[in-house]
Amino acid sequence: AGAMILAAGLGYLLGSVPFGVVITRALGLGDLRKIGSGNIGATNVLRTGHKGAALATLALDSGKGAIAVLLARALGGEGAALVAGAAAFLGHLFPVFLGFRGGKGVATFLGTLIALSWPIGLMACGLWLLTAAMTRISSLSALVAAAGAPVLALGFGARGLALTALFMAALIFLRHRANIARLAAGTEPRIGRKT
Ligand code: G3P
Repeated sequence: AGAMILAAGLGYLLGSVPFGVVITRALGLGDLRKIGSGNIGATNVLRTGHKGAALATLALDSGKGAIAVLLARALGGEGAALVAGAAAFLGHLFPVFLGFRGGKGVATFLGTLIALSWPIGLMACGLWLLTAAMTRISSLSALVAAAGAPVLALGFGARGLALTALFMAALIFLRHRANIARLAAGTEPRIGRKT
């Protein structure tokens, strides 16, 4: 039980670090929550026009999920790794450092998945990239990758991972309600565009 509590706490704290907000502020690009969609993720950082900042946000927001999983696995095995991954994801959505008002969790979800099972994680990234190549819409790519991940995990017979991925995917869909409405209305901006 000790390892599980440690995994949850560690994952949550790591996941809570809002790299998009930290990086845009450090570069003097303004308050990310007042730019574009107001979201704290890499897609919205790109709307500042600073590609390096967006890439760094993507790398660090996914990296924090992966590190949480790897640390927890070393401490307490595969069960602890799953708990830490889910906790890091929840940290990004409900960060203690931003009054619990966080992001949509896509990068952290993908980083966590890669560390939990690299074949499934890379395939989910593949779904994101394929959809983005076809549509240039970040939110739609995220929804396709999120929906695909639990199905892929089930296909690999990884039931614990499938359940964890399903939980995260459900929260990703909930967090994208405004995006889904814009997708339905045909007004969702393409990657790199502000409107
Ligand atoms: O990762 C979040 C992405 O799916 C949508 O971001 O800023 O376009 O709402 P945004």
